[in-house]
Amino acid sequence: MRVLVLDGPNLNLLGTREPGRYGTRTLAEIRSDLERLGADLGVDLTFVQSSAEGDLVDAVQAASGSVDGVLANPAAYTHTSIALRDAFLATGLPFVEVHLSNVHGREPFRRRSLLADVAVGVVAGFGPDSYLLGLRGLVAHLEASGR
Ligand code: DQA
Repeated sequence: MRVLVLDGPNLNLLGTREPGRYGTRTLAEIRSDLERLGADLGVDLTFVQSSAEGDLVDAVQAASGSVDGVLANPAAYTHTSIALRDAFLATGLPFVEVHLSNVHGREPFRRRSLLADVAVGVVAGFGPDSYLLGLRGLVAHLEASGR
């Protein structure tokens, strides 16, 4: 099974970005944790991070046909990007939306996701563990759907 891990704007700064909110683990460390879990689950992971909306759209399009699903933290684009929503709908790629922080306990504009209703599921508020929980959920979903 193959999964793309997609990270949006400013997540390259994890480790130093608002550590009180997002913790001190870097994106590289989160990726290592995912690699370890992926090895246990028999999943090959590829990783893309970009702060550019179009690059994320391109990555979803490029992944179509070569991965079984996407684990996505679209960061701020979660709340704004019709283009990313359309990319997931156009490709039909199953995806799980993850957030380090509990977006429902923050500013009102973060409570709206333009992706959540078309995602397999959403995990938010568990820090880096959101990614690990999200990967487990995505893999279980893909297995149940025969992939
Ligand atoms: C985030 C939550 C978003 O609202 C925010 O714009 C981010 C990070 C999270 O992981 O908690 O950049 O996706």
